[in-house]
Amino acid sequence: MPDLTPKKPIIIAVDGPAASGKGTLARRIAAHFNYAFLDTGSLYRALAYDVLRRGEAPADASASLRAAKKLNMAMLDDPDILAALRTDAVGTAASVVAAQPETRGAILQIQRDIADTPPDGKAGAVLDGRDIGTNVCPNAAHKIFVTARAEIRAKRRWQELRQHNPQVSLEDVLADLNARDQRDSARATAPMRAARDAHLLDTSDLSIEEAFEAALALVSH
Ligand code: CDP
Repeated sequence: MPDLTPKKPIIIAVDGPAASGKGTLARRIAAHFNYAFLDTGSLYRALAYDVLRRGEAPADASASLRAAKKLNMAMLDDPDILAALRTDAVGTAASVVAAQPETRGAILQIQRDIADTPPDGKAGAVLDGRDIGTNVCPNAAHKIFVTARAEIRAKRRWQELRQHNPQVSLEDVLADLNARDQRDSARATAPMRAARDAHLLDTSDLSIEEAFEAALALVSH
């Protein structure tokens, strides 16, 4: 008798602090296996962007909850919006919004739906974020927690931000990054943390190619 039970998608969770290289890695792993890819940080950034655009305060939990309830995923297909989401101001506001339990709850299901039923019938999904291995997909087949030294992460993010804003200083980027990491790991709800069964991958002294090879080795056994 053929086994007609639908196969469960393979989930790969890639978590880690800001500018650790997790997004680049997660995207490449997804492309390699032809899995779906979800940058969960972009969801929090989209909420923060919406709140800021309305002139509301990111710390106002009811404003972010309203934004979460009407989150339009299609906006994440617009390259101009995606570029606007990548600013330091939106990143900082996103980490304030992301500390609010009800807002997190409101977008949890969106993330799980993509993991449970990857778009286009793909056999798996790679999700990157802060709490994928611990909270969104605790049963993920593979978990990687990507880290790098703070100075290296700040330099990477500074080089990225400088392309749009030549005035941005490395000191400011490092300070923002440290403040964001501190907020993300200290919050009460789903703080940034490596899952107990996650592989740690320090990309401080690795090229993108080397980090990718190391990640592939971790998910291929
Ligand atoms: O790209 P970068 O690592 O700087 O940030 P991001 O992944 O776009 O995430 C922006 C912010 O969203 C983070 O600082 C977290 O506060 C929040 N976030 C979260 O709380 N949980 C996730 N799964 C993903 C992001």
